[in-house]
Amino acid sequence: MLKDKNVILGVTGGIAAYKSVEIASRLRKAGASVHVIMTAGAQNFVTSMTFREITGNPVITTMWGEITNHQVEHIALAELADLMIIAPATANFIAKAAAGMADDMLTTTVLATKVPIFFAPAMNSNMYNNQLTQANIKRLVELGWRFIPPASGHLACGTDGIGRLPEPAEILDFVENELSHEEDFIGKKLLVTAAGTYEPIDPVRYIGNRSSGKMGYAIAEAAKKRGAEVTLVSGPSALTAPAGVKLVRVETAAQMRQAVLEFFDEADIIIKAAAVADYRVREVADQKIKKNDDELVLVLEKNPDILFELGQKKKSGQILVGFAAETQHLLEYAKAKLEKKNLDMIVANDVSRKDAGFNVDTNAVKLLYRDGTVQELPVMTKYKLANELLNMVIKL
Ligand code: CTP
Repeated sequence: MLKDKNVILGVTGGIAAYKSVEIASRLRKAGASVHVIMTAGAQNFVTSMTFREITGNPVITTMWGEITNHQVEHIALAELADLMIIAPATANFIAKAAAGMADDMLTTTVLATKVPIFFAPAMNSNMYNNQLTQANIKRLVELGWRFIPPASGHLACGTDGIGRLPEPAEILDFVENELSHEEDFIGKKLLVTAAGTYEPIDPVRYIGNRSSGKMGYAIAEAAKKRGAEVTLVSGPSALTAPAGVKLVRVETAAQMRQAVLEFFDEADIIIKAAAVADYRVREVADQKIKKNDDELVLVLEKNPDILFELGQKKKSGQILVGFAAETQHLLEYAKAKLEKKNLDMIVANDVSRKDAGFNVDTNAVKLLYRDGTVQELPVMTKYKLANELLNMVIKL
């Protein structure tokens, strides 16, 4: 992946800067041409000479020196690069990047380049967990920049916690893994549904479920990053749509059905991660229901099963993926849904687990296929799982 790539390695002023020397060395061994830019802070921890020897290229330490090599003029370098890695990325540097500042060579290059940028934050746990740092990271992630999660362990400041720079080999693995997913969905149209639906009772009340939409939004984001044209049909959710994704907001199962049918024909891949309400209130009250009696009886009637309908309409070449949210008999129920709804793959989700299912950031699933194969995946973040699912979809 990294062979013949021009990589800008940004080094900022944290104690973990010494590990960047090994990152530079590994990048070079992988066949990349490495251009190091050091902030003033970084130069207190490692010398530019070390990086020059390791990379065989001039090291940029200031914006104001004499330009001796045209390749290192800041815009030129920003354009020459194939990717950028900032490791370690201090809280200060992340804040400056999030604010769009350009007060030294590294911030300037970050602002001027259009290539993928990876940040590997390393800092004290409290600084990392601070709401400001987290808000800065969130802002950058929303804009498409990538963060390599810090490791937990003993920190230079003497405490234990999150904030360690991951090992150089792990950083390179992460980068290579992300790059290998680049653009394999170009030319593919993906329709994904997310979150639960709300079924109204009266103007102020509804029947809903605990789905946050995290899984569906993660799939939309990952597919978009891999080049797909993505339509996200979402029930009510607090999440923001990933950049570049077409978002269609709906509330009820009936509205979701209508939106999905509108985009179904043109979609190559349909992933139904939404938790659709199976029933709706038969007679929705026009006015707020008053609490008069001791008992209130609501009659519910069945909603259409959208996925079942899609399975009937599916054309050859379309890939249809469903989810099965179960609290018991996971494989048995999931297999029945796979067959009944004519799916190519079903993601079986044990929602009784604390680390999986509704409203958490991780998921642990089993994938079932038409040929009877079952694949168990370990607990992972929903974003990583989204990429795993897309890997399987491409194979299908
Ligand atoms: N689904 C759907 N329309 C519905 C209900 C479910 O499209 N009215 C889809 C979901 O998006 C999901 C799959 O069907 O991809 C399975 O949903 P799930 O709630 O697990 O199963 P149900 O078919 O509703 O069956 P049950 O509630 O009895 O488990």
